[in-house]
Amino acid sequence: MSQKRIVLAGGSGFLGQALARDLRQRDYQVTILTRTPRERPDGITELAWDGVHPGPWTSALEGAEAVVNLAGRNINCPHTAANLVELTASRVNSVHALATALPGLKQPPKAWVQASAVGFYGDTADRICVETTPGGTGHLADICRDWEHALHSVPLPRPRTIILRIGFVLGREGGALPVLSKITKLFLGGAVGNGRQYISWIHLTDVTRIFRVAIEENLSGIYNAVGPTPVTNADFMKHLRSAWHRPWSPPAPAFAVRLGSRLLQSEASLALMSCRALPKRLEEHGFRFEFNHLEQALRDLCR
Ligand SMILES: NC(=O)c1ccc[n+]([C@@H]2O[C@H](COP(=O)([O-])OP(=O)(O)OC[C@H]3O[C@@H](n4cnc5c(N)ncnc54)[C@H](OP(=O)(O)O)[C@@H]3O)[C@@H](O)[C@H]2O)c1
Repeated sequence: MSQKRIVLAGGSGFLGQALARDLRQRDYQVTILTRTPRERPDGITELAWDGVHPGPWTSALEGAEAVVNLAGRNINCPHTAANLVELTASRVNSVHALATALPGLKQPPKAWVQASAVGFYGDTADRICVETTPGGTGHLADICRDWEHALHSVPLPRPRTIILRIGFVLGREGGALPVLSKITKLFLGGAVGNGRQYISWIHLTDVTRIFRVAIEENLSGIYNAVGPTPVTNADFMKHLRSAWHRPWSPPAPAFAVRLGSRLLQSEASLALMSCRALPKRLEEHGFRFEFNHLEQALRDLCR
């Protein structure tokens, strides 16, 4: 039997690389769409695209089992007006580029798994957000709304579509955890701001498996891809200090976080906003998390 092919648009990054490895191990054929393709020794194919226009890459979609769209400029940059335009455009354009390719295919992908983020809900303090919670306000909420709207606007008939509103992904080699670990090891791992903002974290292993379940099982619609136990920032930093055997550290007030973020070309609101999302629909589907508790996830990752 010929191998099933999965196309990962924007698959060269933190989540895409983990997913590509996982799918390869399960004998899928994996094609990554990237702006800078390279030869790889691991059996994964990289094809050039610009994330905007159709091109020769569209033939990779023919007969594919699924397309997974992870493309988008990294949100860890100052949210200036110019950057916000690019953050949105890089996401919306990639959806349009894939959508434009579909009508020309004899056999379009059976499923389209689209990344989004829990930023959709805005800053929600300690209120719980599930998939039916309305979208919030603020830059991240606006970006996510435009991003998801682009997928909803793809003309019918569409492949089975799944939107994953992803939380704060914890991994060893990407995302924010390595930076937070470094700061913590330097005895600077205090709570951020008032520490009461919620972090909807998820272990990389679990989010990777959610993508696979979305491809292989009959999911459809919107799912919060977060772990079942969001924690406050103060608790998160407490567990991170404990994982690295560091004592209590003084909190970093919000103004210091804003100043530090400016110096580091980052964005303070990413650390200061609160989101307490729960994976209601995944749990209803019967998804079992390998990492239910933060201590357990950090024990695995902080080694
Ligand atoms: N990691 C998280 O904690 C997290 C949380 C919530 C949501 N998400 C979302 O999930 C997706 C994947 O996350 P990630 O952590 O893997 O991100 P990442 O490491 O930054 O990778 C994103 C990929 O998007 C592509 N890209 C960047 N700018 C682009 C542009 N202007 N046009 C087209 N493609 C562009 C890049 O591929 P090339 O440079 O190779 O073209 C890059 O590999 C992102 O959309 C992200 O917003 C991630």
